[in-house]
Amino acid sequence: MEKRTLTGVVLVAVAALFGGAAFAQFAKTEDAVKYRQSAMFLVGQHFTRVGAVVKGEAPHEKDVFANNTALVDTLIKLPWDAFMVTGSDKGSSMKPEALAQKDKFMALAKANQTEVGKLAALARGGDLNAVKAQFGETSKSCKACHDPYRSK
Ligand code: HEC
Repeated sequence: MEKRTLTGVVLVAVAALFGGAAFAQFAKTEDAVKYRQSAMFLVGQHFTRVGAVVKGEAPHEKDVFANNTALVDTLIKLPWDAFMVTGSDKGSSMKPEALAQKDKFMALAKANQTEVGKLAALARGGDLNAVKAQFGETSKSCKACHDPYRSK
């Protein structure tokens, strides 16, 4: 009986440690900030390359273009747990409101991933005109989060 109780306590403790708690993924709060800023930096780099083609400032090489949108599509899935770490607004460009309004923030993140997914699918199709409109929609959904939750 006593042994069973102890096993139960250990299991609960293990579950608490590994039960999908975002805090456990980063050794330090600064690591979470570094992680999301790095991911966002890469997203920005590849999104800007896509934008240059959309604006006619760079040639439309279909494979390179599709690859850049595919990279944005992959990279934009990375940073969201890293945004939700308690105290990580300090020393970053994330406003404290993001942590106070986690559900709203994550809904904007999800909406953005949907737009990026559509963009990547259209880019694979190779019809640049179809991509152009979707690039605008995608940029808007990046901005929809930056406006309330990112400081300059
Ligand atoms: C749900 C919110 C949200 C969405 C959606 C979002 N961002 Fe961000 N982004 C942020 C926040 C908050 C920061 C500031 C992060 C920090 O300083 O820790 C940031 C930072 C950045 C940075 C600066 C990274 C650096 O070097 O520190 C770039 C570039 C960027 N985002 C590009 C984009 C692009 C492009 C998209 C759309 C494809 C996008 N973001 C979508 C919230 C978002």
